[in-house]
Amino acid sequence: MMAVEVKNLIKSYGSFQALRGITFEVDEGEVFGLIGPNGAGKTTTFRILATLLTPTSGSAKIYGYDVVKDSHKVRKLISYLPEDAGVYKNITAYEYLKLVAKMYFNTTSDFTDALELGVKLSGLGDKAHDKMKTYSKGMKRRVQIARALMVKPKIAILDEPTAGLDVMYSHMIRELVKDFVRTYKTTVLISSHNMLEVEGLCDRVALISEGKILAEGTVSNLINIYGVKNLEELFIKLVGA
Ligand SMILES: Nc1ncnc2c1ncn2[C@@H]1O[C@H](COP(=O)(O)OP(=O)(O)O)[C@@H](O)[C@H]1O
Ligand SMILES: [Mg+2]
Repeated sequence: MMAVEVKNLIKSYGSFQALRGITFEVDEGEVFGLIGPNGAGKTTTFRILATLLTPTSGSAKIYGYDVVKDSHKVRKLISYLPEDAGVYKNITAYEYLKLVAKMYFNTTSDFTDALELGVKLSGLGDKAHDKMKTYSKGMKRRVQIARALMVKPKIAILDEPTAGLDVMYSHMIRELVKDFVRTYKTTVLISSHNMLEVEGLCDRVALISEGKILAEGTVSNLINIYGVKNLEELFIKLVGA
């Protein structure tokens, strides 16, 4: 079964159409990248899939469940990392991940496993016991990613997980996602405005601009078909045309 099925999705904010008919599918176990500049409609698309926003028209399904009609079913299958997720300043990452584990699991062994995985994914080591107000931006982001993945969702929806992070942290987070997918066979939807960073991470990408998908496929396929060096060049070619 398709993990994600989005059909002709339209979203208007007042008279402004942010999504102008978006269609794509994601297979189980795939890492799918929604790539495009600021304002393209990435967050709007992800918020609809995460059941936080209702579409104006069109449909979106997660494992066959409609994100509007079956939202409670959908929420059990997904984990969503918002692009602007903040952290609680006065508690430690360990305390935070413990709260998350408690919310999701009611048997001791599931709870313990999730917490252990969360701490490991956070990569903080002993610093997991420091208050989060002492963390760098990269450390905070990694706690949020750990939070999203530790519950082993069927689908992880990660909105610009590396935005604003330096090279080392961006690399670390991409490797973390890759390792996680390899281990748990999670389906991942990831967005980025950085066209170059997704090449080694995503099985398939869709280039989005002004609420429309311009091209979709594996990175190598797109590069071959359009005769370009990379996705950035492809994007400029498609938008310029
Ligand atoms: N709540 C809102 N009200 C009005 N316009 C919005 C709202 N949210 C997003 N937009 C507009 O919709 C477009 C798509 O935004 P968004 O989905 O956040 O894009 P992206 O995540 O790709 O940067 C942008 O032009 C943005 O200004
Ligand atoms: Mg966004």
